[in-house]
Amino acid sequence: MVAAARQALDEALPAGQGNALVDVDALTNRLTMAVMLRTLFSSTAVDRTTDAARASRILTYCGMRELFWPVTLPDWLPLPGKADKRWAMRLLNVLIAGHIRRRLAEPAGTPPKDDLLAMLLAARDEDAGANSAGLSPAEVHDQCKLMFLAGHDTTASALQWWLWLMARHPEAARRAHDEVQRVLGGREPTAADLPQLDWLTATLKEALRLYPPAPSLTARRTTQEMQVAGWRIPRRTLVFIVPWVAHHDARWFPEPEAFRPERFTADTPPPPRGAWMPFGTGPRVCIGQHFAMLEMTLVAAMLLQRYTLHTEPGQAEPRPVLNVTLRPAQSIWLRLARR
Ligand code: HEM
Repeated sequence: MVAAARQALDEALPAGQGNALVDVDALTNRLTMAVMLRTLFSSTAVDRTTDAARASRILTYCGMRELFWPVTLPDWLPLPGKADKRWAMRLLNVLIAGHIRRRLAEPAGTPPKDDLLAMLLAARDEDAGANSAGLSPAEVHDQCKLMFLAGHDTTASALQWWLWLMARHPEAARRAHDEVQRVLGGREPTAADLPQLDWLTATLKEALRLYPPAPSLTARRTTQEMQVAGWRIPRRTLVFIVPWVAHHDARWFPEPEAFRPERFTADTPPPPRGAWMPFGTGPRVCIGQHFAMLEMTLVAAMLLQRYTLHTEPGQAEPRPVLNVTLRPAQSIWLRLARR
């Protein structure tokens, strides 16, 4: 994570330039994608990331639209959006398959990799015993694709909104930078530093509250009739749990539209269970939540070590739009100035 962040953040501003207007959507996507490629495949190649970013964006648009169709029609039909979807699926499949093929073709004696693909290939069903067959090639491929998509788009969205909030609230950003300086003294962060970065973490949690990257798509189907708060919900009803609503409820978060990281500092009692759930909750809670918090905190610390963030005069508030993940209607551009 640190290596990927170092590269992406150093490249964000051309060498010798004191400041620049930066497309933070592109920056955060490049960065989180690089993290996932290293985590999944130990790959430092960042070629095709622009195409991959476009492909995953297309899939979120299609996913969102098709979610509200009564039935999902086959992808080969000549319907609006289907050609783009086919292109995006093919691109990601080729990308993932290439990484897996290269791994399987490694000659005997190649030092083993310590990445998610190695773990998936070695995984065995604990109940079936060590000699069980493991995952099929299609399952390994699908797991890699899921992790790649679920693991970069959400975190990029969260970082993008955090960057915007830091630029809009320079006092909170200054306090976060002071903390980073005090704890790290100029060196790069590690996972062990997280407990000391209380204010920085609180700014990230408050960003996740105001702009949850997956704000409405936690869906469950009831297996039996049930009563919830006086409502009768029949069996087999699809229930959408919408963190966006709880996150903007003044009962749990007074002045819910205000950016107030102190809601999440260690000396403040946490909100009641379920009031803050950017990662969902229960048995299907996001499997990557700790990974994402670690990644965002490391990236945020490294960014503040390098740059101050500024909005442009008269810059409008970005309007959030739901397309599976919560994105600004237009990409946010911020001025990054070297410290
Ligand atoms: C800020 C970043 C992230 C947010 C806000 C987020 C949010 C979520 C949410 C709301 C769910 C649905 C939970 C539910 O249905 O109850 C989910 C599921 C999932 N997330 Fe994340 N996620 C993030 C980062 C990641 C990362 C980094 C990874 C992988 C490394 C990841 C992998 C997954 C997977 C595989 C699932 C499906 C889990 C299952 O159904 O069992 N996510 N995430």
